[in-house]
Amino acid sequence: MSSVEDIAFFEQIADEIALKGWFVTDSFVGESLLDGLIQEASSYWEEGEFSKAGIGTGVQLQLRPEIRTDKIHWLDEHQLTPLQQQYWDRIDLLRQTLNRTLYLSARSFEAHFAVYPEGSFYKKHLDQHQEVQHRLITCILYLNSDWTDADGGKLRMYHNSENEAEYTDIMPLMGRFICFRSDQVLHEVLPSGRERFSLTGWLRRESLI
Ligand code: OGA
Ligand code: MN
Repeated sequence: MSSVEDIAFFEQIADEIALKGWFVTDSFVGESLLDGLIQEASSYWEEGEFSKAGIGTGVQLQLRPEIRTDKIHWLDEHQLTPLQQQYWDRIDLLRQTLNRTLYLSARSFEAHFAVYPEGSFYKKHLDQHQEVQHRLITCILYLNSDWTDADGGKLRMYHNSENEAEYTDIMPLMGRFICFRSDQVLHEVLPSGRERFSLTGWLRRESLI
């Protein structure tokens, strides 16, 4: 069930995405959901259930350690834990609001936990693949307690593709949520000074089978 406040909140997200391409908030999900998600991510990590992330999709997928060095654990839409399901449900409300107000045609959501081990980065890129343009909106939830400026690992959001000097840096603080247009917003992850966790996903044009 979504409350009236939720609907107003999601409409505000849509307005900002329409205006500037992205939106950031520290109150997308409640604390108990956050605590649970970080516990799940940590246990996948401790059990060695992350693999090296690549570039591209399908047969075009390549490991490119000069571009990105994070590790990921994909979530299976058909085998979500109750906490993952709660997050999916919240994202689904966002999906419906964006479809209604921005005339998007997002049909599904895909997501992975990501870890940037110390020294890891992801160079400047767009999230929408050139070959198959499934990804419409990127949604990232950060899961790092006590993150400080000295820990690096900021998300650098470029304001436009012409001028490299115009950007906003976002700290990957516990509970911070950012969403942005996957086809338009250039971004990068600056080298991280310590293990950096997130739950990163995409609203997609097509449904996954
Ligand atoms: C990505 C990405 C940014 C971040 O996974 O495509 O750009 O801050 N992540 O983790
Ligand atoms: Mn990205």
